[in-house]
Amino acid sequence: MEPDLSTSLGPLKLANPVVLAAGTCGWGLELAPYLPLEQVGAVTVKSLTLDPWPGNPPPRLAETAGGLLNSVGLENPGVDHFVSRIWPELRLRRVPVIASLAGRTREEYAAVADRLNEARGLAALEINISCPNVKAGGLTFGSRPEDAAAVVEAVRRKTSLPLLVKLAPLTADPVGVARAVVEAGADALTVANTVPAMSIDVTARRPRLGNAVGGLSGPAIKPIILRLVWDISAALPGVPLLGLGGICTAEDALEFLLAGARAVGIGTATLLNPRAALNVLKGLVDYCRRHDIRRLTELVGAARRRGREGAPGEGGEEPCSPGKG
Ligand SMILES: Cc1cc2nc3c(=O)[nH]c(=O)nc-3n(C[C@H](O)[C@H](O)[C@H](O)COP(=O)(O)O)c2cc1C
Repeated sequence: MEPDLSTSLGPLKLANPVVLAAGTCGWGLELAPYLPLEQVGAVTVKSLTLDPWPGNPPPRLAETAGGLLNSVGLENPGVDHFVSRIWPELRLRRVPVIASLAGRTREEYAAVADRLNEARGLAALEINISCPNVKAGGLTFGSRPEDAAAVVEAVRRKTSLPLLVKLAPLTADPVGVARAVVEAGADALTVANTVPAMSIDVTARRPRLGNAVGGLSGPAIKPIILRLVWDISAALPGVPLLGLGGICTAEDALEFLLAGARAVGIGTATLLNPRAALNVLKGLVDYCRRHDIRRLTELVGAARRRGREGAPGEGGEEPCSPGKG
């Protein structure tokens, strides 16, 4: 029997848990010749701002051991361009589209969400409060629970779409930020954005990125983000999580599901192989068949339940029981 791969992130229903991550698949359309978009669970488009943003000076990408540094800086043509020029074509694809949005002020975030109401048929919004490459907005909103909540409240007032909030990995109180944004109206959390980082060219004796510092993605960050998923799913058991950070294989994805994520994002892996998401999906199906898993959501949080088996005094409670939330 074919395993049931369907999952949900609050009100957002997905046919399968594999989602293309913001900024790493363009508008999705560019990938379509290599990867039939309707086969992934959802496509997240690059973060949109109210006005076009030029992004940071080049070079914007640098490879590191086990990872990729980027300082793209949310370059994008602005939300109006997306709504009038890109959305008409993208909406014809039979795939849920999540629009990521960013801004310099909470009013800008709200204005972008308002404009996105004109893009009829969007599946969800994802608020990016965690980009390490921009001074205004970005990490400044994602670091403190009250700032993050204010942005989410402002966006929530403008939209009735399912609302995801993308968290930063390195903040003093990630669980506090997670709790605050859920109380402010987020339906689900995307865990997480890139890790602030840098690299220096010793021959030129200067930073490799034009912006000097950037965000680290890829396999190097997987254990860091996995731990965050683990912690947040324990602290907020009913809150659906989309886990992403260094997922390249089905085994990576399974780690995130077992830690408590209900869906997984594929980012840097797509830049190496545009079909990476489909390979992950196929590997998940194979795993379910091999282990007689009928519904993939049976696995969500299962590592915690396993971890507790036999632990005196801790048994019984299942903070991430499948089918919840
Ligand atoms: C080149 C590049 C551009 C990105 N642009 C965005 C963006 O516009 N908005 C956003 O929320 N995240 C952006 N990200 C972060 C990814 O969506 C993802 O959170 C991060 O790369 C971790 O996942 P990964 O290790 O699978 O790449 C970008 C990442 C890369 C590598």
